[in-house]
Amino acid sequence: MSYPINREWAMPNKHTFLVKPIRELVNRYVGDGKGWVDLFSGWNSPAEVTNDLNPEIPAQYHLDAFDFVNTLDGKFKGCIFDPPYSLVQVSRSYKDIGLKSHIGSDDPTASFKIVKDKMVCHIEAGGYIISCGWNSNGFGMKRGFEIVEILLVAHGGGHNDTIIMVEQLVRDVDLGELERIANRMKPKTFMDIL
Ligand SMILES: C[S@@+](CC[C@H](N)C(=O)[O-])C[C@H]1O[C@@H](n2cnc3c(N)ncnc32)[C@H](O)[C@@H]1O
Repeated sequence: MSYPINREWAMPNKHTFLVKPIRELVNRYVGDGKGWVDLFSGWNSPAEVTNDLNPEIPAQYHLDAFDFVNTLDGKFKGCIFDPPYSLVQVSRSYKDIGLKSHIGSDDPTASFKIVKDKMVCHIEAGGYIISCGWNSNGFGMKRGFEIVEILLVAHGGGHNDTIIMVEQLVRDVDLGELERIANRMKPKTFMDIL
């Protein structure tokens, strides 16, 4: 399987979609946002359905993504998946609003595995996931996805690149089984593992 991997340079910004090459990529897929859902939407999401834990952010819902995916009904054309990228960022998000964070292991990105498993059940055949982070794991083959393109955005200095994965749902998976596994895995709290 081959897919384009492009590399751009841009100033870092905690608002991911204000980074020009990322905004351009997102706009290309999301268009007017109809049929798209954003689980960690921040201030600048183009998606029709938006959720962010922080109540000060102008999202439609202010739930923990773990709870938000359980409220979804039906299928979406695509999902934007731009969670905190590190343990420090997870901890900061929760402290900002005075909650404990849900972390299933020492790796904060692993804690969002359950959210991914549940989200797959709400993506239509041929639908897209756009994931942002510091790794290129995305949703992956096991969840039925194929990589469409990857964008690496370098930020200079000691910054990590931001890695944007675009994936398409191309294969049937046993969604019921994925959901059953996800339901069995209860996220532990931040305090439990420290
Ligand atoms: C990397 S930022 C997303 C930025 C957004 N895409 C933008 O361009 O502004 C992560 C966002 O996730 C939110 N967040 C952190 N933990 C969350 C959780 N468990 N559930 C839902 N939102 C969460 C934070 O408030 C923050 O706005």
